[in-house]
Amino acid sequence: MYICTVSNQKGGVGKTTTTHNLGMVLARKKRVLLIDLDAQGNLTDACGISQSDLHGSTYEVLGGGKSLAEVILPLNSQIDLLPATRDLAVAELAFASKLGRENLLKKAMRGADYDFVLIDCPPGLGLLTVNALSAANGVLIPVQAEYYALAGLDLIQETMREVVENLNPGLHVLGILLTFFDGRKSLNRDVANGLRERWGNLVFKTAIRDNVALAEAPSNGQSIFDYRSQSYGAQDYTALAKEFALRVKKL
Ligand SMILES: Nc1ncnc2c1ncn2[C@@H]1O[C@H](COP(=O)(O)OP(=O)(O)OP(=O)(O)O)[C@@H](O)[C@H]1O
Ligand SMILES: [Mg+2]
Repeated sequence: MYICTVSNQKGGVGKTTTTHNLGMVLARKKRVLLIDLDAQGNLTDACGISQSDLHGSTYEVLGGGKSLAEVILPLNSQIDLLPATRDLAVAELAFASKLGRENLLKKAMRGADYDFVLIDCPPGLGLLTVNALSAANGVLIPVQAEYYALAGLDLIQETMREVVENLNPGLHVLGILLTFFDGRKSLNRDVANGLRERWGNLVFKTAIRDNVALAEAPSNGQSIFDYRSQSYGAQDYTALAKEFALRVKKL
């Protein structure tokens, strides 16, 4: 089982879109679990799940009130979702004094049996993100090709370093993913080159192009493959999944 945290403290860089669509491609061949670790519940909504479908949420699973198996919902025969509700907004406070608070997710996932687990983090580097980093094997960092991207990566790296030292020595960066990419913009090309200079092969060869279908799909509760299977977005996430699976295999 390979557990991948999709994380970047910056908001709106494509974490949720990547978790959802990468997961849907991987699930064509493998068993996948998606975890919504964000009180915004964007991943849960994007998967077409409504509040009335829920038997519980990530919050209760982290708190120990319910087991993972009780709460997960199948999206199809190959892929399950651990859904989030707004309750999660109080998690940082509610769990702040709990013993083992950084390992709640790791503990909740004991015994889970999937090929891939993808965790959609909230923006920020608080306790929920630390839980995701502590439970994971690797981190996928989506970045928008803009001026602040490089500095932003240093920040998440610092948090990762602390997690490696204190909680999860095996944690590594699986890859950095360019999102909202528009090759006609020189700023996008310059930032992409800067990233590749600094991070080399850790930057995925696949960049996710700016594609309006990717922005439209979630409002229908659909993945890009159900919404527009021929779109750039569908092509790019298919290519990413191939690269992702190869990279994990080589570890
Ligand atoms: N490649 C893309 N092209 C166009 N729109 C995109 C693309 N990727 C994501 N979007 C849209 O941009 C918005 C932000 O993406 P997303 O929600 O995946 O980011 P996020 O990092 O999860 O945000 P947050 O930090 O708030 O959780 C969403 O409306 C999404 O549908
Ligand atoms: Mg999100």
